[in-house]
Amino acid sequence: MVGAVIVGWGTALPDRIVTNADLEAVLDTSDEWITERTGIKERRVGGTTAGLAVAAGARALERAGLHGSDIDQVLLATTTPDRMIPSTASDVQHALGIEGGALDLNAACSGFVYGLVHAHGLIALGARRVLLIGSETLSRVTDWHDRNTAILFADGAGAVVLEATAGTGQLLGWDLGSDGSARDLLYADIGGYLQMDGREVFRRAVRATVDSARRSLERAGIRPSDVALAVPHQANIRIIDAACQRLGIPMERTATVLHATGNTSSASIPLALVDAIERGRLHRGDLVLLVGFGAGMSWASAVIRWEADT
Ligand code: ACO
Repeated sequence: MVGAVIVGWGTALPDRIVTNADLEAVLDTSDEWITERTGIKERRVGGTTAGLAVAAGARALERAGLHGSDIDQVLLATTTPDRMIPSTASDVQHALGIEGGALDLNAACSGFVYGLVHAHGLIALGARRVLLIGSETLSRVTDWHDRNTAILFADGAGAVVLEATAGTGQLLGWDLGSDGSARDLLYADIGGYLQMDGREVFRRAVRATVDSARRSLERAGIRPSDVALAVPHQANIRIIDAACQRLGIPMERTATVLHATGNTSSASIPLALVDAIERGRLHRGDLVLLVGFGAGMSWASAVIRWEADT
């Protein structure tokens, strides 16, 4: 049996900070409203999806003590590719000197966890190492005059390196799903801006997060009280609060970065995971629940046992 473990991690954020006060100046909104309704205080804007992905991927490789030539596959989770054709992953592959395969994966904000499960599958089939990146430049598909979306979405990237290991590896349980009948609740047409029914997305997000997390926990054979760290998609602090309350996981055991990053879709979970690592919140043997939901409407969760030295 061949399993996988995370052996490296890294993130990248654009330099430019857009605060709620900056948005107040151009939109009919307020810092107080945004903070109270979303938990977001500021976000990062700028760069390209490939540029951010390369920076995060290079840091993850460095942390793992590896080079691009050690990687068999690069999976890039993104909803905001730089071009229609070719995949943005091919830019990343070239820049990092990766000789193996490269593909983009779009499962909206669930993309990173979808990619994590697919990476474990590739390794079970014989790949030795997979570089998994979530990278987004949502600012390019956001209408900065639309207060429904401009306050939420932003740019960033996070990456992990997964390596084959003898035995079952870190993945204890997972759940991937989608309800295509709800695909019009959040979309951007090619060349268009993000359109969203925020209230309905909110309602479904809490339910999808809780239901998917419960399925993964059950498959892993663990209880919510066993979870050392929950890493949810960073869309809205009220969604995270409501879901964690229903799951019985206190906020002290939940990773959040959205106050500083906004919603970065497939980058949000690795950004929160790496932030928790850097704050010394994760230790070898800890059980970690990763859970995301997003456009589609998609959802994804996974329970892993953290195996790396942090
Ligand atoms: N500033 C000030 N007032 C606002 C703003 C704003 N930016 N936006 C809406 N309002 C007003 C509304 O007009 C409304 O006023 P009214 O009561 O006079 O009609 C009031 O505030 C409440 O509006 P709601 O839409 O009910 O506000 P809500 O509390 O639902 O918050 C929000 C809106 C933040 C969009 C929330 O619904 C949300 O986070 N939804 C989920 C969105 C999400 O997670 N999307 C990403 C999915 S993941 C992916 O795939 C990318």
